[in-house]
Amino acid sequence: MDFDSQMKKRVAEIKSVIENYLPDTEGYQSTLLEAMNYSMLVGGKKLRPLLMQQTFVMFGGTSNAIRPFMAAIEMIHTHSLVHDDLPALDNDDYRRGKKTTHAVYGPAMAILAGDALLNLAYETAAKGFTEAPGDPNVARALAILAQKTGEYGMLGGQSVDVEYAGRPLSDEQLSFIYGLKTGALIEASMMIGAVLAGAPEEEVEKVERAARCIGLAFQIQDDILDVTGDEEELGKPVNSDEKNQKTTYVSVHGLDAAREDVGKYSKEVIRLLGELPYENEFLNELVLNLIHRRV
Ligand code: IPE
Ligand code: IPE
Ligand code: MG
Ligand code: MG
Ligand code: MG
Repeated sequence: MDFDSQMKKRVAEIKSVIENYLPDTEGYQSTLLEAMNYSMLVGGKKLRPLLMQQTFVMFGGTSNAIRPFMAAIEMIHTHSLVHDDLPALDNDDYRRGKKTTHAVYGPAMAILAGDALLNLAYETAAKGFTEAPGDPNVARALAILAQKTGEYGMLGGQSVDVEYAGRPLSDEQLSFIYGLKTGALIEASMMIGAVLAGAPEEEVEKVERAARCIGLAFQIQDDILDVTGDEEELGKPVNSDEKNQKTTYVSVHGLDAAREDVGKYSKEVIRLLGELPYENEFLNELVLNLIHRRV
């Protein structure tokens, strides 16, 4: 099967795994439940669960705990998007090809739906304990999920991103923001894949370094697409960064250097993964394909 067909098949599988863990929309809080499901089901590339699964496969993983963790990482990522789009943050009305959650349900319900997705993520990940009874790696994975999401992870990055809007940023500040707001959840995805497959600590650290480079390349490409992308294709507004006076990799280094560096970071990923005693051709191809992504 060629790469695109494999990709389609895997993303479809991931969607059905995720759907299993979403709530029914019944009861007095049905609007909250609908808003949660709306944001989860409306689209998206499912890149983080895919990276988790493919890292797990690379390490020869067999544990059933991988499934709830794949759903959990997508819930946390979606929570981050629902809140990122809010009027108080980036104030964007379009996401994954549809109206944003706050544009449909109002900001109050979007705040609550984002919170509820974050909570549901941990509730879901905790199902790993019953999926793999007695497996000590489930607790390791849960700790990584929580750390990479929190104040020293994605949320820490988002806080600096919003606080420093409108100000010039040094390269160090910029990579701090990108490493956390985007890198951290990608690191969590791949580290959890490795951990649930039973990888030793030094190999998990290698995976973390490779994932950090994917995160940087991914966010730089996101900044490039914010300037050069097609709104229809992208499914979210372009020029959001300019609107919010964000200093980005593109505004600091220019488009050409940004493009070049996406390539450099991606090749570094392949090099780092190549140092591991395992291989996953599909994962390498996925990383290289992200360099030229239009979505
Ligand atoms: C968007 O992430 C937010 C960033 C970290 C740049 P994705 O580009 O993975 O968004 P979806 O999940 O495909 O919608
Ligand atoms: C957001 O970065 C990263 C998150 C943690 C959500 P952006 O604000 O650039 O992401 P988009 O462009 O809205 O998807
Ligand atoms: Mg943002
Ligand atoms: Mg945004
Ligand atoms: Mg962006």
